[in-house]
Amino acid sequence: MMYELPMNIIAPSILSADFSRLGEEIAAVEKAGADWIHIDVMDGHFVPNLTIGPAVIASLRKTTPLPFDVHLMITNPERYLDAFADAGSDVITVHVEAASHLHRTVTLIKEKGLKAGLSLNPATPLSLVTAILGDLDLLLIMTVNPGFGGQKFIDTMLPKIENARKMIDAMAPHVILEVDGGITAENIKSVSDAGADVFVAGAAVFGGGDYERALHLLKMA
Ligand code: DX5
Ligand code: ZN
Repeated sequence: MMYELPMNIIAPSILSADFSRLGEEIAAVEKAGADWIHIDVMDGHFVPNLTIGPAVIASLRKTTPLPFDVHLMITNPERYLDAFADAGSDVITVHVEAASHLHRTVTLIKEKGLKAGLSLNPATPLSLVTAILGDLDLLLIMTVNPGFGGQKFIDTMLPKIENARKMIDAMAPHVILEVDGGITAENIKSVSDAGADVFVAGAAVFGGGDYERALHLLKMA
């Protein structure tokens, strides 16, 4: 099946939004020009933090037509795929480090009619995904150690992003390359030059008061 490869997608991460007003926060970034909504799901096990689950996502689904880019930082994500699919996810990304049978997990996500992504922690080599790259819709390179918003971008990840771009272009050009962690208006150009298609931004969007300006600065940069 063919679908259009998105270019320069900005996906605000609601991890840095006001959790008491998530619906309004999403409406505000939608109005400000967000392309996707990035939702960070943490289990207190794979990462040292707890966030939100399928029930919250299902409620938020009613508030926006924007694609939900659901980043599962949970062990054994296959146990919860049905729940996250039913909640209204559009992209489900699981961590290479958190699932044993990646091909099965990716296949299950795609069988639900969703886009399937795999994510790599900063210390995990790209070589772990070469065998399955062609089966993916999206590859997510973490540029912070997952668990918290507002961390500093790890500069040594730039060559990894460049190599991921080369690998995708050579082996599986349909795969979308996403980068997550510490993206700012100052470094987004270098991440784009390295070859990313989708840019997650939490603190850079929700950290200041003016979302329109924040998204404008990211897009212009
Ligand atoms: C980190 C999350 C990221 C993070 C992005 O565990 O996966 O999505 O919240 O937020 P910033 O842009 O603040 O690093
Ligand atoms: Zn994330």
